[in-house]
Parts: sequence; C-alpha cells; structure tokens
Amino acid sequence: MSAKKLGIIGGGGHIGLIHAACLASLGYKVAAYDLDDRKIKNLQKALVPFYEPGLEELVKKGLEEERLRFTGNPEELSDAELVFICVGTPALPDGSADLRQVERAVEELARLAQGPVIAAIKSTVPVGTNRKLSQQLGKLGLSHKLTVIANPEFLAEGSGIDDFLKPSRIVVGGEDPQAMEKVVAVQSPSAAPVIKTSWENAELIKHASNALLATKISFINEVAAICEAFKGDIRIVSQGIGLDPRIGPHFLEAGLGFSGPCLGKDLRSFISQFGAVGEDALLLEAVFYINLKQLYSFVQKLEEHLGGLRGQKLGVLGLAFKPGTDDVRDSHSLPIIRHLLSRGAVVAAHDPLVGKSPQKDWLSRRLPSLQWAASPYEAAERKDALLILTACPEYRELDLERLKNSMANPLIFDGRNLFDSREMKELGFEYIGIGI
Ligand code: UGA
Repeated sequence: MSAKKLGIIGGGGHIGLIHAACLASLGYKVAAYDLDDRKIKNLQKALVPFYEPGLEELVKKGLEEERLRFTGNPEELSDAELVFICVGTPALPDGSADLRQVERAVEELARLAQGPVIAAIKSTVPVGTNRKLSQQLGKLGLSHKLTVIANPEFLAEGSGIDDFLKPSRIVVGGEDPQAMEKVVAVQSPSAAPVIKTSWENAELIKHASNALLATKISFINEVAAICEAFKGDIRIVSQGIGLDPRIGPHFLEAGLGFSGPCLGKDLRSFISQFGAVGEDALLLEAVFYINLKQLYSFVQKLEEHLGGLRGQKLGVLGLAFKPGTDDVRDSHSLPIIRHLLSRGAVVAAHDPLVGKSPQKDWLSRRLPSLQWAASPYEAAERKDALLILTACPEYRELDLERLKNSMANPLIFDGRNLFDSREMKELGFEYIGIGI
C-alpha cells in the first residue's frame, strides 16, 4: 500500500501530526489536512506548533522527500485510500464529548471521496459512536463510499514517535475485516499485538485504558495521604507495590494528580456514558474527586503554612501538564497559579519548554499578571516559597545550595516529590512533598 496516498484530518494536532510524520517516514505519501490555516502555513515550512521529541526532524524529512504534504484544502484528500480522523472531541459542560468535529470530518470525507475510502477514527469517542457514524452514512446514501473503522490511539505526549513506531498494541474495531486489515497493515512496523474486534469493544478498550491509568494515579495519591499521617514515604511504598509483576511500577507516582488534555476529559466522558445507560460509575467518580482533592489539598496546605497568600512572593517550577512537553492544556499548574494570583500572591514561573514555545503567549494572555522567569534560579530569587508543579528532569539537577541562598525563605512545596526530604532538611530547606 506504500504507493497509495494516506490522509489525515486534524493533521496539525498532536495525534494527527505525529501520525502524518511517522507514516511518511514509513514510506507512505501522506496528505495532512487541518482547518487551521496558520498551522498549515507554518507546517509547510516545517514549523511544528508544539514540542514533541524528534517530530520536527521527521516533518522536515517528510517535506524534503515529498512524502508529506500539509494542506488547508480537504479536496486534496479526495484520492486517499485511507484517512485517519484525528480531530478533537472536547468536553461539553456536562462532561460528555462534543462529537461535532468527528461527525463533520466523516461526512465531508464521504462527500469528497472519489473512490471507496476507509476512515480510521483515532479520536477518542464515546462507546457506540463508530456504529452511529456508520449508520448516519447509510442514511445519507454514502455507505458505499466510506467504511468506518474504530482505531483508538494510545500514544502519550513526549513519547509519541516511539509509541507510534513501537506500539504496545493496535486495536481496530468494525464490521469490514478487509478494511480492518488495511488499517492494521499501514501502522504496524513492529510486531505489535493486534486486536480486531467490534466498534464497541475498540471504543471501550480506549476508555477503560485511560480510566485505569487515572485510577492508578488516584489510588497512589490516596495512599499518599495516609503515608503522610504515619510519616511514611510514598515513593518507597510505590516501589514496593510496583515490584509485584501483577501490578507493575507504572503510573504509581504520587503527586498533584493527573492533568493534561486526555485523562481527565476521557474520564469525565466515560462517567457520563455510564450515566447515559443508567449505570453507576462509583469507582471512576471517586478517581475523579480524589484527583480534584489532590490539587485543593496542595494549595490549602501552602496557604495554611504561609498564613495566607496576600503579598506572598512565590516561585513556580513547571507549567506543562507533564515533563517532556510544552502542552499546558488542562495543566494542573494553571488553576493553581490562577488561585495564587487571585489571593494576592506575586508569582514568577519557569518552565524549560513552555518558556520557549508559542504556548507562552497563550498562557500570558490568560494569566496577564504572571511573571516569567528565565531560569529556575530566577523563579526562586527572593521568594517566600518555591512550588514544584511539573517533574521536569532539569529540576532534579538544580544546584540546591545556590537555590537556597537566593530565596528569602528556603521553603519548597514539591508537588512531584523530586528530592529526598532528609537531604533537603540537612541543606537547610523546609521541604514539603506529597506522601513523604
Ligand atoms: C495519556 C495516556 O497515557 C495515553 O496512553 C493516551 O493515548 C493519551 O492519554 C490519550 O488518550 O491521548 P498523556 O495525556 O500524554 O497520555 O499523559 P500521561 O503520560 O498519561 O500523563 C497524564 C498525567 O498523569 C500527567 O499530568 C502526569 O504527570 C500524571 N501522572 C502520570 C502522575 O501523576 N503519576 C504517574 O505515575 C503518571
């Protein structure tokens, strides 16, 4: 199939762009379409709108070798045999997913396709959506032109290219075995396990996977609270739990909880799907509330410790929702900073990637009174407390003596448990982590 053209709808977003660049690197001709003209113009010049390790190089290579094209014209997908739909499914106020972008993409593709086309739905959609999309095409008399295949995505930001090239599994759902086979074939450079199943099972696998990752995080954060009460250390407890091969070490890092554009949104959507079929999502509701509580407790503890926030000078390390990305969408750092500012604190923040990316302007518009620090030391200078909100690897390497000497009050509130409490105390810091 490598001579055939593949298409991407939503080619300027995280999932879409990683797919476009990786598929081009595998030898396919890829046309990546996005509604956002500015993104497309920049991508045509190999300017990637967000940070993802290795992505810019792949995009450049794809453009140079003329395997990758970016376009703002959907007609350019009309001769593609397989199109990946990678558009957003943002949360509506009640937590359910807004499917309009997916519906529009599928219908538009069916209308413009010159021959039969497969739409592989990468976007995370509620259970039952792929079937409904297919039925809708039937009603419009377009079924013969477009086959809908559920093809949920499991890649994580910061490791997107590796996750694409060495996937843990490939899941396809649908009712057309040949189309499912084609979707698998184009994206399995390695011998990844493949699950071919129904639309509904594929959709359920995606939601249940993200919900379980979120559950592990809320679980360990709940255990962290009792750890603190007994002066235990959650990092050692986590290690002890994770060594059981039935449990595994991943997603057992206590901290501020999960944030970012996926886990929280998908969890809320999953909970609302339970409600829609008259089922309770007792565990998942708890997972959601524990995650909220984690944020409130952190801020409350800080406020109590400082005896109020008005006039306090605070430094913040980390704005992105996790290390290795400049993505600040739904990052825990934003509500924390907004709260601190609204209570009259003066806040200066540093982030190694966000500070250098277009996200900085986006954030500055939303938090105009936030000051920006060029280095972690500048963020700490003359501050009453330093808050660590993202576990960026460079923060682990800080010159702690220098940091302490620059602060007005050597108090660190570490939402990511980067340091050893005993060593920090010996260095003269007051160090407060989570579950330690
Ligand atoms: C997540 C999933 O991990 C991917 O498999 C999935 O494909 C993706 O969502 C998606 O649905 O698109 P991602 O949002 O990139 O990927 O981020 P994660 O690595 O899952 O981290 C989410 C949040 O959990 C971050 O705020 C991170 O700091 C936090 N986290 C993670 C913890 O608090 N503790 C941990 O032990 C691990």
